[in-house]
Amino acid sequence: MSSVTEWAKPNPVTENRSGIIGKAVDRYEGPLKVTGTAPYAYEVEPPTPAAYGSLVLSSIARGRISAIDTAAAEAAPGVKLVWSHRNVPAQAERAKTLDFWSAQPNPALESDRVRYFGQPIAVVVADTLENARAAADLVKVSYEAEPASVDFANSLDEARDPPGESDTLVGDFEGAFAEAPVQIDDVWTTPIQNHIQMEPCATTAWWEDGRCIVHTSVQMVRRTAQSLAMTLKLDKDAVLLRTRYIGGGFGGKGSSYDDLTLAALASRELNQPVKIAYTRQQMMLATIHRPATHMHVRLGAERDGRLTAMSLMTTTHCHRSGAFTEHASNFARSLYAAPNRLTGHRLVKLDLPHAGAMRAPGEAPGMLSLECAMDELAEKLGIDPVELRIRNEPEVDPETGKPFSLRQLVRCMKEGAQMFGWDRRLPRPGQVRDGRWAVGMGMAAAIRGNFLLPAKASFTLDPNGTVTVRQGMTDIGTGTYTVLAQIAAETMGVPLSDVRVEIGDSEMPPAPGSGGQFGAATAGSAALAAGVNLRKAVAELATSDEGSPLFGGEPENVVFQDGVIAIGNRSESLATLITRTRPDGLTAEGEIRPAEDARNWSQHTYGAHFCEVGVDTVTGEVRVRRMLGVFAAGRIINHKTARSQLTGGMIWGIGSALHEVNAVDPRYGSLIAQDMASYLVPVQADVGEIEAIMLEEADDKANPMGIKGVGELGIAGAGAAVANAIYNACGVRVRDYPITPDKLL
Ligand code: MOS
Repeated sequence: MSSVTEWAKPNPVTENRSGIIGKAVDRYEGPLKVTGTAPYAYEVEPPTPAAYGSLVLSSIARGRISAIDTAAAEAAPGVKLVWSHRNVPAQAERAKTLDFWSAQPNPALESDRVRYFGQPIAVVVADTLENARAAADLVKVSYEAEPASVDFANSLDEARDPPGESDTLVGDFEGAFAEAPVQIDDVWTTPIQNHIQMEPCATTAWWEDGRCIVHTSVQMVRRTAQSLAMTLKLDKDAVLLRTRYIGGGFGGKGSSYDDLTLAALASRELNQPVKIAYTRQQMMLATIHRPATHMHVRLGAERDGRLTAMSLMTTTHCHRSGAFTEHASNFARSLYAAPNRLTGHRLVKLDLPHAGAMRAPGEAPGMLSLECAMDELAEKLGIDPVELRIRNEPEVDPETGKPFSLRQLVRCMKEGAQMFGWDRRLPRPGQVRDGRWAVGMGMAAAIRGNFLLPAKASFTLDPNGTVTVRQGMTDIGTGTYTVLAQIAAETMGVPLSDVRVEIGDSEMPPAPGSGGQFGAATAGSAALAAGVNLRKAVAELATSDEGSPLFGGEPENVVFQDGVIAIGNRSESLATLITRTRPDGLTAEGEIRPAEDARNWSQHTYGAHFCEVGVDTVTGEVRVRRMLGVFAAGRIINHKTARSQLTGGMIWGIGSALHEVNAVDPRYGSLIAQDMASYLVPVQADVGEIEAIMLEEADDKANPMGIKGVGELGIAGAGAAVANAIYNACGVRVRDYPITPDKLL
């Protein structure tokens, strides 16, 4: 294991006295979730009975609403209000440019402009959901339609540099590529994909003494609360946002949507709690999606496999009013050594719903190109794909020259190859048959950036000896509750059963939320700091209290274990100490900020995927038989929740290779798939044996515990391993994802 920073001595977590850190402990909130008693946003019981909202969406892609007839809806049974741009209450204006990272007003129904098919244009609130939906169907809308641009594949020549971005060019790419004795020059495409979270976007809102209380399903607590306060022109403190349980986010809930704005406004208007949820169909249209990509890879290599020239140029699309860019080329800047390099992005503006971040934005589609190009190059050169990658392993970041904080990619590939039985792979495709199945193996590397953001947390020790963690953090299903409980138990020397975790509240110490696989490292580092501070406070309290058996001792010598503090054979329980000295409890806050030298390192998480598929030679159906991922992602706090993140990502990678696609109806600019019957994701039968192995490591440049992220690493490269296995099985290279049976026959 790598050395761990001497950040704080004694560092209770690096000592890991009780062994709770790293253990595969069960989910803290698991029993509530599996018994259906965890109240998700729509299920929260407001203080008085709620009214229910239903959204009406636009049915053109671009133009304006020329007339809207709400009379029938208003007269329908149980209807309390019908709002459109004509009568929605005043809100703050939308910012000119959408910015994912900062709080911005998010007004609903604000004008007669229609900017995409599926834009919310009216809301009906009624006494029951059924009445609201029935009345919403009665709203009649006429449009003045304008020509809309919705066809990405035929708009590639309209692509421009994303605002404020330019290509990275190192050396003389074009010259080196032209001279390279072995070349790869191919285009890969990926389609629009949707997040399909189990829980839709949903809000329950009410008002108390001029304060807006909202329970909503979002990834970011503080920013969303601020955004709502801005939209409603309220003081920051006038919005209390709660998001206790979240049924999946994946980037799709990094922003908030009109359920939040309209539930807050309507509950104020009606002086009654209001619930609004998107339907599955509305989720597909009226939230965000991952945009399609067109990726051009050019590789030039010497005959010994060394890359001399490497280029990945991505063209993608976003909404006409936005600037979101799927940075599918970024990962290539740090993955392989090559003296001459060119990477960049182009953006086409379309009148489709908003493109945005979806799990491992950039890497998820990006690695589906370069990692298959490397497979093609390996075959051309007659070099094993693992060996080809090892020959191009850089010593420092190949574009910035910065040292890597910790890079164990080669170890992931070597250990994975051994565990998987990679040496049994026959390099020539189409050599292995199992009845009518053609069987093959493929591999791909994985890389995904690692980040730490500023965060706070508090720990409170109560007279009964329990420790309560409080943090304005979210758990989108990733395991935040559980890892915070583990860190609290370890730092305070109490059993897990004596830890309470309270998160998802805008009044708690702020944390950035869940996204970019920074959640556990960021939230956990703040929690560690809170724990260290609370230990210090407890030790000082005990050694300075005449009533304590520890009185007069040195605070640094106090040992915390099993709910007891001790110096030598003098001891008392935490409960006794706090009951006697702090009957209201003892609280300490902790804070983490990125280290000042954080930017001096090229810091990533790494992995290697190995996959065996069968391709049905009659039907073209692909079944993943075995898949193994070996990952180097820093210290793992919980092997169960981390494994779930990694295998979940790998399964998503299988989906991106084989199943997931949405398409645009060019007549309307609508996304065609609007439910899970038409948008396919892998099911049990599509996923054979699957395993994720995590290497023992701790990255001392990442944060005091050496934690990195795993939430997005698992999908990075996974689909490329599937595609490469398909080629090895049957000799067909499909570069337009997903690899559906029709493309293999
Ligand atoms: Mo994410 S796709 O950064 O939640």
